[in-house]
Amino acid sequence: MSTATARACANIALVKYWGKRDAEQNLPAAGSLSLTLGALVTETTVTFDPRLSTDELVLDGAVAGPAETARTSGFLDLIRAEAKLATRARVTSTNDFPTASGLASSASGFAALAVAASTAAGLVTSPRQLSILARRGSGSAARSVYGGFVRMHAGHATDGSDCYAEPMTSSLTEGVRMVIAIVGGGAPKTHGSRDAMDHTAKTSPLYQAWLELVPHDLAAAEGALSSGDLVALGTIAEANALAMHASAIAARPAVIYWQPTTLALLAEVRALRARGKAAWATMDAGPHVKVLTSTGDAEAVAAALRPIASEVIVSAPGGPVSVST
Ligand code: DP6
Repeated sequence: MSTATARACANIALVKYWGKRDAEQNLPAAGSLSLTLGALVTETTVTFDPRLSTDELVLDGAVAGPAETARTSGFLDLIRAEAKLATRARVTSTNDFPTASGLASSASGFAALAVAASTAAGLVTSPRQLSILARRGSGSAARSVYGGFVRMHAGHATDGSDCYAEPMTSSLTEGVRMVIAIVGGGAPKTHGSRDAMDHTAKTSPLYQAWLELVPHDLAAAEGALSSGDLVALGTIAEANALAMHASAIAARPAVIYWQPTTLALLAEVRALRARGKAAWATMDAGPHVKVLTSTGDAEAVAAALRPIASEVIVSAPGGPVSVST
């Protein structure tokens, strides 16, 4: 029996991944850029046990359903093929945040699973290989291998060998915070990001425009990171999130993640900015609003959002994935 436990942080994209160029290899159609969050952590233990006849998944203390177990098992098959191993595994995973609420649990989940399972399987892997492997589980997971600001490359290769994430150094890393305003108590989301981005790509008249926009936003965000310009970074992040949602809203039928509280939070973020606070909103495949801010303004932003949201979490940037045996 061999076992390993990994801890990975979730990440929130500031330039979003929304659409694939290859579903089988899980290759994104464009690059993306994210911030890893220290307050949202998944811990996953993988034990390869010769007594098991099937893979087992326990998620937040409960036996997972067949769809989640099958997705995990399919991912473990990639590692078994690489390690020339037939043994089944027991996977126990705990999130310290609401699962499937649009708080990017698949990002930290597959990053932790990739690292725990490859370590338990005895594979020696580089961070880049781990990022490529995590991507097979979930595109956003490729970014959770690293801490701080992270850039995901879309790549060109059909086998995905050039499709991985890399950390980006920036003078902004120490001084930023993310304020997460949870809407609706973290209820499970209505459209999973995987199906919704596929549906957007197939039916939205705005999808092509979205894809053409992403490289420009990425270049501008990278420029803001290298010059240490938080205002420029925040402005791009909010505009990029709204453009992603515009493409989804224009899909037929529409994919609308926002609830009335989401819009109230967005209005409050604009009001905070008008009062001179550093505050820029981003939203993913759920109703929650995440606000990029500075260490100095994080408490004021959290205090303004608390009366509107059901829960508010303030997060510092998180570190890279870690593993122990
Ligand atoms: C809106 O990484 O969950 O959070 O690769 O199909 O598993 P799959 O998708 P996933 O999509 C994340 C979408 C997003 C934006 C982002 O994180 O970049």
